[in-house]
Amino acid sequence: MREIIQSLASIKEQFASSIPAFSSTADVEAARVRFLGKKGELTAVLRVMGGLTAEQRPIVGQQANEVRSFIEQSLAEKLSEIAALEASDRLKKQKIDVTLPGIMSQTGSRHPLTQVIDEICNIFLGLGYQIAEGPEVEFDEYAFERLRLPKGHPARDTQDTFYITDNILLRPQTSPVQVRVMEVSKPPIKIVCPGKVYRADTLDSTHSPIFHQIEGLVVDTNVTMGDLIGSLQLFAKKLFGDSTDIRLRPHHFPFTEPSCEVDISCWGCAGKGCRICKNEGWIEVLGAGMVHPEVLSGCGIDPEVYSGFAFGIGVERTAMGRFGIDDIRLLYENDMRFLRQFR
Ligand code: PHE
Repeated sequence: MREIIQSLASIKEQFASSIPAFSSTADVEAARVRFLGKKGELTAVLRVMGGLTAEQRPIVGQQANEVRSFIEQSLAEKLSEIAALEASDRLKKQKIDVTLPGIMSQTGSRHPLTQVIDEICNIFLGLGYQIAEGPEVEFDEYAFERLRLPKGHPARDTQDTFYITDNILLRPQTSPVQVRVMEVSKPPIKIVCPGKVYRADTLDSTHSPIFHQIEGLVVDTNVTMGDLIGSLQLFAKKLFGDSTDIRLRPHHFPFTEPSCEVDISCWGCAGKGCRICKNEGWIEVLGAGMVHPEVLSGCGIDPEVYSGFAFGIGVERTAMGRFGIDDIRLLYENDMRFLRQFR
C-alpha cells in the first residue's frame, strides 16, 4: 500500500513540475493523455488496487481521487489560460487594416440606347399607351404586303432587308406590329412597340444594318392629324424640354395617308443652327401619318367608323442627338470607355 501511495505522490509531483512547460493547447492535451488517459500513469496505478484489502482500498481511493482532481483542475486552468493567449495571438496576427482602400466592384449601367427607349416608352405609358411587341423575323406579308407594299413595289428599295426565304425576312421597320396588333384587337388601340429592325445598309457613321425603332399606333373614332401633331409635340417637349418645337414635312409612306417626316428643333441651338443639326436648326427623328384606310380594312377595322395615326421613332438618331454622339458605330462596339460616360 505504501508503494501505491508513493506512486500517487510521485505522479502528482511529476505532473506539477511539468505544468510550467505547457505552452500550447496541444501540450495540455498530451499531458491529459499521459496522466489521465486509458494507458496513462494514474490509470496504471489504479489498476493494481485490486490487490489491496477492504480497509486499505478507501484510503488509497481517496488519495487517488485527490491526485486525479488536482490534475484535472490544473489542466482545465492551464487550458483556458493558454487558449486565451492563443486567441489573442491569433487576433494580433489577423489584424485588419480598415484604412486600406476598398476593392471596387464593377457595376454595370444601362446602355444609352436602352436609356432612350425606356424614357420614350415611359412618356407614352404616361399618355395611356400600352407596350406591344412583334417578331424580328417576320413574314413578307406583315413586313410589306399588308402595309401596301406589294412585291416589286419601288418603295421597298429604301427598306431593303435580309431575306431568310422569299417570304420570311428580318423586319426593316416596326410597322408590321401595327398589322399584328390591329388584326387581333378592336379599337380603341393605343400602343408603342420598341424593337430592333434590319436593313441591307453598309455600316458607316450614320447607318447600321441593325438599329432600333419605336412604333406608335392609335386607332379610335375621330382620331385626326391634329391628335397626331399634339401627341408628338407633347412627346418632344417631354423628351427634349419645354421649349422644343416640332416641324412636319410632307412625305410618302405607302401605309399612311397623308404622311410626313417629323423634325424636332435642335436641342443644341434651339433652331439657330449648330454642329449637332449640321446648321439646319432641325433634326429628323421620325416618320408618321394617318393609317391608310386599306391597312385598317385589311385588319378587319372599318375605316368608315375608325381612323388612326401611326409614327415610327428612330431610336439611334434620338440617342445620338440627346447625348451628342457623332458616330452610330460607337453605340454597338461595347467599348467600356464610351459606355461609362452614360451612367
Ligand atoms: N416605318 C417607317 C420607317 O421606317 C416610319 C413610319 C412609321 C412612318 C409609322 C409612318 C407611320 O421609316
